[in-house]
Amino acid sequence: MNVVVYPGSFDPITNGHFDIIKRSANAFEKVIVAVLVNPDKKSLFTAEERVEQIKKVTKDFDNVEVCSFSGLLIDFVNQKNAKIIIKGLRTLSDFEYEFQMALMNKQLDPSIETVFMMTSAKNSFLSSSSVKQVATFGGSIKDLVPEEIIQDIFDKVKKN
Ligand code: PNS
Repeated sequence: MNVVVYPGSFDPITNGHFDIIKRSANAFEKVIVAVLVNPDKKSLFTAEERVEQIKKVTKDFDNVEVCSFSGLLIDFVNQKNAKIIIKGLRTLSDFEYEFQMALMNKQLDPSIETVFMMTSAKNSFLSSSSVKQVATFGGSIKDLVPEEIIQDIFDKVKKN
């Protein structure tokens, strides 16, 4: 089966991420969305909360699974018997970081390919950090994240 892994922090998932998930679910047999558990990086939502949010948002997609992982992405990809990592690319500034990661992953396991999907133009300015900033200062995040998690985000930034 053609299984792909779409990894990220997803803190929180944005419409840009969701668009890449939907397009991957159309293009491949199975998509595993992999949420990084990174104790060194301060996140707004816990990994469990992020997994639950993505599950809620992707509930209508039969071929999308949501998991968390820690350690090396390549190890997780192999554990899931996947051969492809999907990454979204927004701007030129994403490229250098993504290129470095793709080459490092290739070095670690040459049998795994990283496939880049261009963001849809309407989402090219979107990032989880800008969503958090807008929500913190009470701006509208209506067209930035899936409907189901808007309240979660406002509740969480209020508590922080
Ligand atoms: O959404 P992000 O924060 O850009 O996602 C980054 C992610 C999770 C893809 C990346 O940090 C990652 O793969 N981390 C796992 C550690 C790893 O495998 N490092 C080696 C490649 S540089």
